[in-house]
Amino acid sequence: MIPELLKTSLAQRIAAAITNREAAVDVMKELQRHYGWLTDEALEEASQLLGLSPLQIEELATFYEMIYRRPVGRHVVHVCDSISCWAVGGETLLGALSQLLEIRPGSTTADDSVTLLPCSCLGNCGEAPCMMVDEKQYGRMTPESASQLITALRTGTSQKPIK
Ligand code: FES
Repeated sequence: MIPELLKTSLAQRIAAAITNREAAVDVMKELQRHYGWLTDEALEEASQLLGLSPLQIEELATFYEMIYRRPVGRHVVHVCDSISCWAVGGETLLGALSQLLEIRPGSTTADDSVTLLPCSCLGNCGEAPCMMVDEKQYGRMTPESASQLITALRTGTSQKPIK
């Protein structure tokens, strides 16, 4: 169950939106931040807050790839596999991270620290190849810089995002 303060804040955002559906992704993302992923309980809460059926919320949740309907690691690493990134090494980047983390794309490391996911265009094609770690974007990545970034993430040292 979400805290009353968060519930009030979400209700205010919904009230400020033109339609409840317009606020749905924002609400789901906040609930995801609270729970770590969009649990069944979170989905039910989103349904009640937005006045949409659980099925409608489920449909929206499965459409947006940044909404997770399954547990994820403490950090989620998205590697763009759309055309601009793919053309300049996105696939190699994903392969290098998969090897570094010893998991296949779509999986989570055994220590629950990182989930590795391919994703659609991050809207930053000019900086291809791109990746996103949690909610921060990184561009012009190489297998080496990406590996350094993920190693720093797992050891608790930070790197500067581009956005
Ligand atoms: S194709 Fe990768 S950011 Fe657009």
